[in-house]
Amino acid sequence: MKRVLLIVSGGIAAFKALELIRLLRKAGHGVTCVLTDNGGQFVTPLSLQALSENKVYTALFSLTDESEMGHIQLSRAADLVVVAPATANILAKMAAGLADDLASTVLLATDKPVLVAPAMNVRMWLHPATQANMATLAARGVRVIGPDEGAMACNEFGPGRMSEPPAIAAAIEALLTPPAERLAGPLSGRHVIVTSGPTHEPIDPVRYIANRSSGRQGHAIAGALAALGARVTLISGPVSMPDPAGVSVTRVESAREMLAACQAALPADAAVFAAAVADWRVANAAEGKIKKQPGAAAPALALIPNPDILATIAAAGPNRPRLVVGFAAETDDLLANAQAKLVRKNADFIVANDVSPETGIMGGAENAVHLISAAGVETWPRLAKEAVAARLAARIAEGLT
Ligand code: CTP
Repeated sequence: MKRVLLIVSGGIAAFKALELIRLLRKAGHGVTCVLTDNGGQFVTPLSLQALSENKVYTALFSLTDESEMGHIQLSRAADLVVVAPATANILAKMAAGLADDLASTVLLATDKPVLVAPAMNVRMWLHPATQANMATLAARGVRVIGPDEGAMACNEFGPGRMSEPPAIAAAIEALLTPPAERLAGPLSGRHVIVTSGPTHEPIDPVRYIANRSSGRQGHAIAGALAALGARVTLISGPVSMPDPAGVSVTRVESAREMLAACQAALPADAAVFAAAVADWRVANAAEGKIKKQPGAAAPALALIPNPDILATIAAAGPNRPRLVVGFAAETDDLLANAQAKLVRKNADFIVANDVSPETGIMGGAENAVHLISAAGVETWPRLAKEAVAARLAARIAEGLT
């Protein structure tokens, strides 16, 4: 059993800490909570205690706590310290080395790995002070998950939402799996290429065509494969997702760059094509910025097809990975279209998802997929994208044995 010391600081996202504790307990980990004074405005010590089945620590100078378990002992007893939610205030205290309550004192005293899940208003997150604090913490080896982009409690939109509990639990799992165990994982010694995110196709040096892919599913798959011991090359289009733990990342912009990076990363045992690659690029992309000509008509964009990266890498040949996985995002005739794609692109698996607007899947935290192979169709329940990633990684491990 691994032990997580969870520090809950004061933000509206503190309620999500309850779900995180439940997930960690379900995974067999022990959880001890430290609740800050402000955190106590959002969740009660009793809820944390009921879910963690452990005493909750709140006060720095509590005699019983010092005799039972002092602040040094709290971090000594943990394998990992997690701050979720991590407010701008606690991140600033960590960066400055302040120790004026139990949470900040534990964070200053610990020599254990620390993971923070920031949660705050978008302008507080983007403030140069917070960004400088994050850079300081990253340079000291503090791991960060999120924040996500989306609608916030304060009626604003942008980066600042705390990552969802399943994503934080997956990051915790990766950090708790020691490299030695990862080496013994079912994918150890295997190389897997994963594509993720959108591509940007230039119109001129300052404009481009893109799509709404967040990279969330592809990045989660890369992380899940690494957690099973694979050496993962993640080839990502422009995204604001943090790099998954233990993965080597190549950043690209256009489809042609993505294909070149995939070819350069070969040979591989498996390849997963989760990127939303632009099907077309601008044929007449301009070398210089296109200027408005007073009175002239708007310029016309001629589009030409991009290379199909999945089909190119999956084509029979000495360098073809043994297991090739593609995605199919469909709004109509999901299974028929996905099955046709399996054959047309010479893939071994197609992960098919229904992206009709009413499913709310596009850009969301969950995915409902069917896994299609020559053996037939498997329908998976609606799951967090991290859970879909873990299942797929397990299937890839099976497929390679
Ligand atoms: N893909 C790729 N290179 C492209 C286009 C797609 O590697 N130029 C991959 C994607 O990463 C994904 C699969 O192919 O794994 C999706 O195939 P695609 O033909 O683009 O299908 P959809 O976008 O799902 O739908 P449509 O067929 O309607 O375009």
